[in-house]
Amino acid sequence: MATKPMLNIIKLKKMKEAGDPISMITAYDYPSARLAEEAGIDIILVGDSLANVVLGYNSTIPITIDDMVFHSRSVARGATHTFIVTDMPFMTYHGNIDETLRNVRRIMQEGYAHAVKMEGGAEIAPAINAIVKAGVPVLGHIGLTPQSVNQIGGYRIQGKTPEEAKQLMEDAKALEKAGAFAIVLELVTEEVAAAISAAISIPVIGIGAGRKVDGQVLVYHDVLKYTASYREKRFVKTYADLGELAKQGITEFIKEVKTKEFPSEDHVFAANEEVLDQLYGAKTGAQQ
Ligand code: KIV
Repeated sequence: MATKPMLNIIKLKKMKEAGDPISMITAYDYPSARLAEEAGIDIILVGDSLANVVLGYNSTIPITIDDMVFHSRSVARGATHTFIVTDMPFMTYHGNIDETLRNVRRIMQEGYAHAVKMEGGAEIAPAINAIVKAGVPVLGHIGLTPQSVNQIGGYRIQGKTPEEAKQLMEDAKALEKAGAFAIVLELVTEEVAAAISAAISIPVIGIGAGRKVDGQVLVYHDVLKYTASYREKRFVKTYADLGELAKQGITEFIKEVKTKEFPSEDHVFAANEEVLDQLYGAKTGAQQ
C-alpha cells in the first residue's frame, strides 16, 4: 500500500487555511502505529492516556518519561512515514528550563518523536517558547487537562462560565504566541471551541470540542472499543468492537483446547521416517 507523504508543521497550518480537517489518533506500540499509518492517519499521538488504556492506571499521573520514551520508540518503529507527537508526562516540564529540555531531548532522541505535546495554558508559555527555540515543535493542550485532574476536580466540561471561556481564549493565544504549532482542545463546548479556532492562526484539534475546529483526535482504544467492559463516552464514536471480537476469539481458543479440537492435523508438523526409526527403532516386517 502506498503511504502518503509525511506531514509537517508547515503543511498542518496550510490544512487549517484550506479547511482540510486534520485526523489524529493515539497509538502506543508497534501494531497500533502500523495500523494507524496503513489506514492513512495524519498524525499519531503517543498520548499519556497510555496510563489508562494500556497500563491500567486510573489517571495519567503515574506515567514516567521512561514509559513515554519506551512506547514512543515502538510507535516510531511501526509508523515510519507518519508525523508522531509524544506527550510530555506529568511534571516533566514544570521545573527549570534545563531539566525540561533534558526531558524533551529524551522524547525526541530516544523516543524518535517529531514533536512533543504539553498540557497547560499561559503558565507554561515560557517552557514552550524555550523548547520551540531549541528547534522542537510543540503541540499545546488546553481545556480538560487530565494531568491536572486532582486540581480541576474530575473529568468535566471546561469553559462553561464566561470566566473559564475567557481564560481558555487567553491561554490559546498565549500558546500561539509562544510558538506552539497547534493546540489540542479537550472537552469544551462547541461554541467556545469555534471561537478559539477562529481567533488563532494555528490548528485547533478537538476531542469532545464539537465540529467547528480544525481537526479531531480520539484515543485508539475508544475508536476500536479495544478493552474489556468498555465505558461509553458522549464525545466518542466507536467504529469497531475489537474488545468483543478479542473475547470471542480467546473463548473459542480455550474451548478448542479443552475439547482437543486444536491443534488439528492442519497445525502439526510430521517427522520423517529416519527420525521415527531413531525414536522407535527399525520398522517391523509387518510395517514394511
Ligand atoms: O493522552 C492522550 O491520549 C491525549 C488525547 C486525549 C488528546 O492527550
